[in-house]
Amino acid sequence: MCDSPKICPLVIQYPKILSFEGGAFMNVMVTGTGRSYALGYNLALRYLESGDNVIATVRKPSSDIEKLKEQYKDKLTVLTMDLTDSRSVQKAAEDLSSKTDHIDTLINNAVGVSPDCDKGFFEADLDLIPHTVDIIAVGTMRVIKAFYPLLHNAPGTALIMNISSEAGSISRCYRTNLIDYGMGKAALNMATMNLYNTFKDEGKVNIFAVHPGWIRTDGREDNPAPLSSYEAAGILKDLFETRREDFTGHRFITNEGLDYPF
Ligand SMILES: NC(=O)c1ccc[n+]([C@@H]2O[C@H](COP(=O)([O-])OP(=O)(O)OC[C@H]3O[C@@H](n4cnc5c(N)ncnc54)[C@H](OP(=O)(O)O)[C@@H]3O)[C@@H](O)[C@H]2O)c1
Repeated sequence: MCDSPKICPLVIQYPKILSFEGGAFMNVMVTGTGRSYALGYNLALRYLESGDNVIATVRKPSSDIEKLKEQYKDKLTVLTMDLTDSRSVQKAAEDLSSKTDHIDTLINNAVGVSPDCDKGFFEADLDLIPHTVDIIAVGTMRVIKAFYPLLHNAPGTALIMNISSEAGSISRCYRTNLIDYGMGKAALNMATMNLYNTFKDEGKVNIFAVHPGWIRTDGREDNPAPLSSYEAAGILKDLFETRREDFTGHRFITNEGLDYPF
């Protein structure tokens, strides 16, 4: 990200407010954190509660994350970026490079779906599909590419966890709706596998796709999903550390650590 000589000199003028001190705390980045009832915010919260430094990204200003910032101050860095805009993602990476020299864990959680998500093939406007795939799959790749130098700078093995879904499994597909979402997550799974192949020989950056479980990410108590976003985030946080050094296992796993078919 520091490929412009006009940008690099700026980088060193700022203090490194996030620093890795002796391995106790990590620098953890989570995308899509603007809603306090949803998963991304609760992942950020879980890592903050453990003392880690968190980089939380939002698409637009969020009062929820700003309240968390008031509480956790310099432990939380908030970046604004739109995953569909490479320049926006690159700018966020440059902003972060002025504050820290590495990322230990990147959790790609952000998601967006079309208004026709629940419709079937004959009812859905197919022209809405590319935007969803752009956010979920291409957007995640934009983030990984822009922040890769910071991941590569991690003192240990850096870990990328792409929050996927069982809805992205082609071999287990049973639905006739969620077409754009399923296609986006299937494409994300392919991106995960492709990047795994790209990174694995160096053994410096590891990557997985994860089905995070069935979660009440809308925050509604009448949602039948068994897990609150806070509970799901705790389960995922514990799971992620068990996979940091696993360069040989299956790349698509569930929140229970089980292999899931692509
Ligand atoms: N709920 C479940 O049971 C379940 C099951 C399987 C997988 N998942 C996955 O779990 C993750 C979290 O789900 P969730 O329901 O908590 O997500 P969410 O709240 O619907 O979305 C997460 C965030 O993504 C952001 N976002 C959307 N488009 C963006 C863009 N173009 N650029 C940057 N950010 C963007 C949104 O920002 P705004 O707030 O600005 O809109 C939102 O805050 C998702 O990846 C989802 O697919 C959930």
